[in-house]
Amino acid sequence: MTRRLNRSNRDQQVVEPEEVASASDELTPTVDLWKGDFREVLTDIDDGSVDLIISSPPCDEDSIHIWKDLSDFAARVLKPGALLVASAEQRYLPQIMEVLGTSLTYVWMGWVPKRAPYSHIDELSIRSKGKQLLFYANGEYVPEIPFDDVPNKAGTEDAVVAYYVEILTERGDLVVDPFSGATTAVVAQRLGRRFVGVRD
Ligand SMILES: C[S@@+](CC[C@H](N)C(=O)[O-])C[C@H]1O[C@@H](n2cnc3c(N)ncnc32)[C@H](O)[C@@H]1O
Repeated sequence: MTRRLNRSNRDQQVVEPEEVASASDELTPTVDLWKGDFREVLTDIDDGSVDLIISSPPCDEDSIHIWKDLSDFAARVLKPGALLVASAEQRYLPQIMEVLGTSLTYVWMGWVPKRAPYSHIDELSIRSKGKQLLFYANGEYVPEIPFDDVPNKAGTEDAVVAYYVEILTERGDLVVDPFSGATTAVVAQRLGRRFVGVRD
């Protein structure tokens, strides 16, 4: 079970959307969005308590070390065999996969469309319309439900997030996004999951 995060810390602020359900029942669907660095804000999450981490971490060259911290965090908090599903831009994919593999087990790779306007990789003259979707497990992957690596019905990034939250978790499960916008929070709330997200 996940303890409630410490709200007395002055560095942590709850941002919109605010918590939507009672704090008294930990299996009640909740959305907690925090402001800060996930490496500091999420230290209260219990070891082996998270059912799914789904996120879009920063992918520039200076952020590779954050993927290492994400890998270590995921290995600590994910339940054995549970998945980290993270979108990663292709430019630094080899470096990202190298650091993810230090604490997690590579499972598979899918694809997720980007939102317009698309990014232009000037030095390669490439207009990028999608990102790789990386699936890494905490230890050995424990397949429970069959899923698609590129969901047929998924036309947008939001729909891809919704597909994986819905298929990889159940109502009341704990879903974490350490680099959260509104998308994962809204999806998790709609599907009745417990959600914890962070934005710096
Ligand atoms: C690719 S964006 C995520 C976009 C998000 N999925 C959305 O829909 O808006 C990555 C975000 O992670 C944030 N970030 C970078 N380092 C962070 C850290 N250590 N802890 C928390 N957030 C961080 C960045 O500011 C950026 O907003």
